[in-house]
Amino acid sequence: MDLKTRTKAEGLVDFITTSPTPYHAVANVKLKLTQDGFVVLKEKDQWVLQPGQKYVVTRNASSLIAFKIGKKFEKGGPVAIVGAHTDSPGLRIKPISKKTAEGFIQVGVEQYGGLIAHSWFDRDLSVAGRVYVKENSGKYVPHLVHLRKPLMRIPTLAIHLDREVNKKFEFNKETELVPIAGQEKYGHSCADDPNLQLSSSEFEAVKHVVERHNESLLRLIAEELKVEVEQIEDFELLLCDYQDATLGGMHDEFIFAPRQDNLTSCYASTEALLASEPAENGALMISLFDHEEIGSLSAQGADSSFLPDVLARLADSDNGAMARMCSRSFLLSSDQAHGVHPNYERFYEKANRPHVNAGPVIKINANQRYATNSRGIVIIKTVAQRARVPLQLFVVRNDSPCGSTIGPMLSAKLGLRTLDLGNPQLSMHSIRETGGAHDVVRLSDLFGGFFTHYVDVDAAVECD
Ligand code: CO
Repeated sequence: MDLKTRTKAEGLVDFITTSPTPYHAVANVKLKLTQDGFVVLKEKDQWVLQPGQKYVVTRNASSLIAFKIGKKFEKGGPVAIVGAHTDSPGLRIKPISKKTAEGFIQVGVEQYGGLIAHSWFDRDLSVAGRVYVKENSGKYVPHLVHLRKPLMRIPTLAIHLDREVNKKFEFNKETELVPIAGQEKYGHSCADDPNLQLSSSEFEAVKHVVERHNESLLRLIAEELKVEVEQIEDFELLLCDYQDATLGGMHDEFIFAPRQDNLTSCYASTEALLASEPAENGALMISLFDHEEIGSLSAQGADSSFLPDVLARLADSDNGAMARMCSRSFLLSSDQAHGVHPNYERFYEKANRPHVNAGPVIKINANQRYATNSRGIVIIKTVAQRARVPLQLFVVRNDSPCGSTIGPMLSAKLGLRTLDLGNPQLSMHSIRETGGAHDVVRLSDLFGGFFTHYVDVDAAVECD
């Protein structure tokens, strides 16, 4: 493995380990960009965008758009956009999660997206997310938290008690997919703590977190954030694998890690944006959205006004500048693809089956579950040739359901030409997915080629 390939693969591994939630992913990307001189914009402010400058804006701290503007960019100019998503299927702590059974402390969790739920059994689980803290000034401030400890587990039932388990592993997702987090006899109770005074006499619209969640968990969070338990107002907390992401296989050719769908695309697009310069009359953009795994319909999802709003502010005019810009722009919608699995090869179409570590995959679907068409393929093929990146093609079997992406949605919303692609992997939506270490650099090189050559390449492709 050459140094560049290893560096990019290890960079992705670190990014995944330190990005257990969309909030962390967005914070990590934003930090990299601001360290490189990107100017932070806020949606509530007026923007005065300057040619030759670079900007980053977030929405709900879980979606992010960043862009570089060419030195001679004019209203209605072309934008090369890479789109991806920051969220992954998993388990989230319920609004009231306090739970005990047989002396065990348990935590009520809610499923988020289409997870392979059985992969969450017998793993060491941690907790991470966004916590709103009430500061002494009276302000409510969000903090990121990542408790890097093995705090929870969803234990399987011993085989002696269920001899059929290897034939079919079935479980009730409400009652049997519940983590244990400790034993009551070792736990804290707010009743024991004279310092913890809850204002129970006052009217409370919603019960305080201390009454809704296990005290020991709240104490761990408070300790981590260096605040008092009573200062915790509310949070979104997700369960995540305690084990770090890693390179794997006998030649380090694999990536063993959660959330490769779709932090791989977030990482590769950020790296490419940092390394690329726009054409003088064009702009480059990455748009990383939360909520793809649940259909993208939220204030910060791909189906929201986030991207249209930012593009409109970049176009900065009526008079058709926005429409001109969209018709001259192009979206690479990047999301992980299904590499062929050696034990389950019958699930894949015979000819259009991509392989892990053989390059990014163009996804095609006649029914427009993917937005790819020949016009887009011509562009990406030319870009890939210049960037020396091999490409593969994927079509789902006719007797199999097909996933979808943010591609068709954004394409329809904005009239943007769009192509769906992504790196091949195995076990998508498992708590521990398998990807290819050699593919990471290829994806970032492909995005880099797209950013560098799009305006030039597009000029040679006719279509009205
Ligand atoms: Co995905």
